[in-house]
Amino acid sequence: MTPSDVKATLSFSDGSPSMDLPIYKGTVGPDVIDIRKLYGQTGKFTYDPGFLSTASCQSTITYIDGDKGELLYRGYPIEQLAVHCDYLDTCYLLLYGELPNSEQRGTFHQRVLNHTMVNEQMQFFLRGFRRDAHPMAVMTGLVGALSAFYHDSTDINNPEHREIAAIRLIAKMPTLVAMAYKYSIGQPFIYPKNDLSYAGNFMRMMFATPCEEYKVNPVIERALDRIFILHADHEQNASTSTVRLCGSSGTNPFAAIAAGVACLWGPAHGGANEACLNMLTEIQAKGGVAKVGEFMNQVKDKNSGVKLMGFGHRVYKNYDPRAKLMQETCKEVLLELGLENDPLFKLAMSLEKIALEDDYFVARKLYPNVDFYSGIVQRAIGIPVQLFTAIFALARTVGWIAQLNEMISDPEYKIGRPRQLFTGAAARTVKPVEQR
Ligand code: CMC
Repeated sequence: MTPSDVKATLSFSDGSPSMDLPIYKGTVGPDVIDIRKLYGQTGKFTYDPGFLSTASCQSTITYIDGDKGELLYRGYPIEQLAVHCDYLDTCYLLLYGELPNSEQRGTFHQRVLNHTMVNEQMQFFLRGFRRDAHPMAVMTGLVGALSAFYHDSTDINNPEHREIAAIRLIAKMPTLVAMAYKYSIGQPFIYPKNDLSYAGNFMRMMFATPCEEYKVNPVIERALDRIFILHADHEQNASTSTVRLCGSSGTNPFAAIAAGVACLWGPAHGGANEACLNMLTEIQAKGGVAKVGEFMNQVKDKNSGVKLMGFGHRVYKNYDPRAKLMQETCKEVLLELGLENDPLFKLAMSLEKIALEDDYFVARKLYPNVDFYSGIVQRAIGIPVQLFTAIFALARTVGWIAQLNEMISDPEYKIGRPRQLFTGAAARTVKPVEQR
């Protein structure tokens, strides 16, 4: 953090002494006012539910310029990474700060692929779930359970443990997601095959059966890999902040990542891709493009509780760059699969066009986010809607670990402990039951 020459002065209208607050500059983006000594010096807290104006940490991993619609991983624009790198290169970049050279690339890819198998006992744990359980319920359980299977990588304060846990989590997430899927449809689990790419291996574990050879379609493989890259990290979003807060207690990495999975599940966060596809399916069932106007009226009516899912973002006040790339991938996949007339894609394009010209959306700077098109791609690939968020979790795992490891390695790190503005009853006396 670079100190700024400018200082903020906090003054009070009741004559209490004012206080100078240091300001720090990042490489890019807004400066921050350091309020760490505020409570000690004034006895007051700041109040910022939802973290609208609060930087919860310093980080060197991901930068978003919401007004420009820019997303950088370690300084590299997402558009370049999506075209020139694969997901494992992106993982390396997020974890270690630089893109790998060819030797580092080979070693890292091999290392991850060598850890794809899960302890055989995991399948018995999985078999305890109902077959119709939501995959995110299953994933929260399975990821948390990894801490019971890999005792040699649970010490968050040991850099070697953190390193092995990182590799294990990246390697095993596709295996776990595919196992959760196979279990839900009653098919045998397919073991990983390490001469395939990360995405190709996942496709095979999802869609192969022991009865037939499985051939990976390179267009779909690349599309899936791109979905993984686009979801790999997104700075201090709700699930990442959850992972950091959970990990700040010193808990093991698997437990911290399981907390991230649980947070991601919600429809305002990772669950939006599932909610978005359900929304499109519902409009389609009611009449499709002809019903878009009616649906938009509901969205704009505050009392309806209806939102245009896949639209809007806390940080992006411009087109989400991931949505643009996802729309491109969507076209490629639909073309490859002969689905270029897919009615849901047409419906999504029509909703987007209307929303981008509508005053309600324009005034609030609401643009499509990554989830608007990702569901259509995944559905075309053959991934069931309920599994969408689990795939998001698979891809985001590297971001969560990179952020967790960054926090633990920061000498200034402390357990996270927000404070509150208490508005409940002040101290009072318990009355005997007959007097209440
Ligand atoms: N449809 C209709 N109105 C919306 C929408 C939407 N999708 N998103 C925001 N608004 C309105 C909101 O009602 C509010 O209006 P007003 O100022 O009149 O009260 C205004 O826009 C500002 O919205 P907000 O809810 O205060 O914004 P937020 O930053 O708290 O919420 C959000 C961000 C992503 C939760 C919200 O835009 C949303 O619920 N979008 C739909 C769900 C979604 O697509 N989520 C995926 C996010 S991207 C993937 C990820 O990072 O997980």
